Amino acid sequence: MNEKLIIFDTTLRDGEQAPGFSMNVDEKVKMAIQLERLGVDVIEAGFPISSPGDFEAVKRVADTVKDPAVAGLCRANKKDIEVGWEALKGAKRPRIHTFIATSDIHMKYKLKKDPEEVIEIARDAVKFARNLCDDVEFSAEDATRTNLDFLCKIVEVVIDAGASTVNIPDTVGYTVPREFEKIINTLLNKVPNIDKAIISVHCHNDLGLAVANSIAAVVAGARQVECTINGIGERAGNASLEEIVMALNVRKDEFNYVYTDINTKEIYRTSRLLTSITGVDVQPNKAIVGKNAFAHEAGIHQDGVLKERTTYEIMTPESVGFPSNKLVLGKHSGRHAFIERLRSLGYELSREQLEIAFAKFKELADKKKEVYDEDLEAIVENQMSKVREYYSLENLTIVSGVNAIPTATIELLKDDGNVIVDASIGDGPVDAAFKAIERIAGIQGRLKKYRINAVTAGKDAQGEVVVSVEFENSGFEITGKGYSTDIVVASARAYLHALNRYMNRKGNKKVLNDSI
Ligand code: KIV
Ligand code: ZN
Repeated sequence: MNEKLIIFDTTLRDGEQAPGFSMNVDEKVKMAIQLERLGVDVIEAGFPISSPGDFEAVKRVADTVKDPAVAGLCRANKKDIEVGWEALKGAKRPRIHTFIATSDIHMKYKLKKDPEEVIEIARDAVKFARNLCDDVEFSAEDATRTNLDFLCKIVEVVIDAGASTVNIPDTVGYTVPREFEKIINTLLNKVPNIDKAIISVHCHNDLGLAVANSIAAVVAGARQVECTINGIGERAGNASLEEIVMALNVRKDEFNYVYTDINTKEIYRTSRLLTSITGVDVQPNKAIVGKNAFAHEAGIHQDGVLKERTTYEIMTPESVGFPSNKLVLGKHSGRHAFIERLRSLGYELSREQLEIAFAKFKELADKKKEVYDEDLEAIVENQMSKVREYYSLENLTIVSGVNAIPTATIELLKDDGNVIVDASIGDGPVDAAFKAIERIAGIQGRLKKYRINAVTAGKDAQGEVVVSVEFENSGFEITGKGYSTDIVVASARAYLHALNRYMNRKGNKKVLNDSI
């Protein structure tokens, strides 16, 4: 009989924790709604005690999603668990996820506690959490470098205390598939009460083995995997959800004893929503969701695919919702066709968002003869990744050229209704535009990354600009994205997007640094 494999998504917690991937509360809620559509079973929405923003995000996600359980991470102490519960208690299916490190190296140097103390802390934390919530998960941090007898012991104790999921993290991405399979087998064979809990795994990708290790654990009997969209997460990231799910799906012949409830057709859209929110793209050759994942370049491959698709394709692009590059609409297309096309791409927009998106489409169709699915995605994602706009772009005039002093004159609409005009010269038109924006906002930024891509082929393609900026020496980088057929305008929009995001999150930095 095939058993359900629980998909625990930690994009909003472990994923968001990684530098450059931070999301504000609204962005997390948007992601959570899409994760629900994707069909994940558990959404880990954050680490409530770590900052007021994380608390608020967990609470908003808990109050918003209906089907998935919502988990919040808490260290193994009362304060964390109380705060976590406060954020989670509005959820239909709340889950408290508490953890403590169990490896010798972590217990000795980080916690400065001996193993018996750690067992007591874990037991107390799980008991305390169970008094508040029926669904408690315990994680033995750095489990793969933990003495196996000690791991069996602590797992038995926490199950006894009421944990219904025990998570075995490969915190530092150190294990290899055969070893991890053995660890899970040992737990299943040696822990007397293991039948009262689900074994979960949580693999990091430091050696590029996170997906392979997760699958090895499933082979051994783990029935929950913790993973993230696009594999984002601490350092080299976490196991990628789309890779695990599609491996099990494509190789049903090998894995016919498990199934997931993931709607694979939502995979690509979820991946794109994340990249549009964070401004960080996946590499082109990324499995399942990379730009080249279904591109057949070599002549011999193209020939094979044309004769028989399965010669070089083990899954169809449609099975993961990958867009088909189709020419979809032109400047005479009406509102109805536009809405239908967005629906078929899976986007559900509010009436107000639709109106704005339609106006943007018309604007684009005037400039560009052919409008592709990717163009529509760019419009909609831009729309969906909007943050509160302290400043928005009204007008931009550029003077530049050979022997000209690059000058930008910019008009920004402030959220109080005032329009402010200023101008600046710069090293080039983009630099001049950024400087003019800074003059108006009175905020200095240091540009750390600047990238430009064409959204589609063709000379009239829209440019997509991604910037990463450190404002006011804050110590953290904020990304922003902007689109336009004019690349200086796209750059100004990207810079403003980053600036607005910065202003939204000012004063909302993480405050956590101790271990228990
Ligand atoms: O990697 C890890 O060990 C974690 C735990 C807190 C689950 O993220
Ligand atoms: Zn982790």
